[in-house]
Amino acid sequence: MTTTTPTSFRRMDESTAEQWSVIATETLSHFDRTADRVLMLLRSLAEITDGFAVDQLTHCLQVATRAERAGADDEIVVAALCHDVGKAISVPNHPAIAAEILRSYVRDEVYWMILVHQDFQGRHYYQYLGMDPNAREKHRGHESFALAEKFADEWDQAAFDPDYDTLPLEHFEPKVRALFGSPKRL
Ligand SMILES: [Fe+2]
Repeated sequence: MTTTTPTSFRRMDESTAEQWSVIATETLSHFDRTADRVLMLLRSLAEITDGFAVDQLTHCLQVATRAERAGADDEIVVAALCHDVGKAISVPNHPAIAAEILRSYVRDEVYWMILVHQDFQGRHYYQYLGMDPNAREKHRGHESFALAEKFADEWDQAAFDPDYDTLPLEHFEPKVRALFGSPKRL
């Protein structure tokens, strides 16, 4: 449903400082909406399986579970949980969609880890699709290369196991709400 504020402007070039003060206050008071939207998108991944042994929500939960059990910090755990959330919209450019959803809330290395994760993941299957399994090599020398490698090799590519003790979305919800409730940059 579309809501309008009657006292607000119809054109930005007719706006006032008072109106922008209202908008800023309203916007800041609704930052918790982002976590709700992200959780909604994550839940929708349960509808996507596309031939894998587990659905995409289970896969994302399993990556986050593996990252958490390996001692990763909260930014990395939530990024792991959300790394394939872009598939709710579009599979071809899902890494960029997920990375941009996370960008205002995580440090640069975590953003980059998600942005390039498919290039690193390709090591484990690109040869079956006529693509270059060494796609990650174009990133060799990047300061966050080792983190992206750990993400893909130890957590992401290993997280399609229906028998793994995967933690539920509710377990991660507090971390999701804490991270998306306070952007690092606007
Ligand atoms: Fe993945």
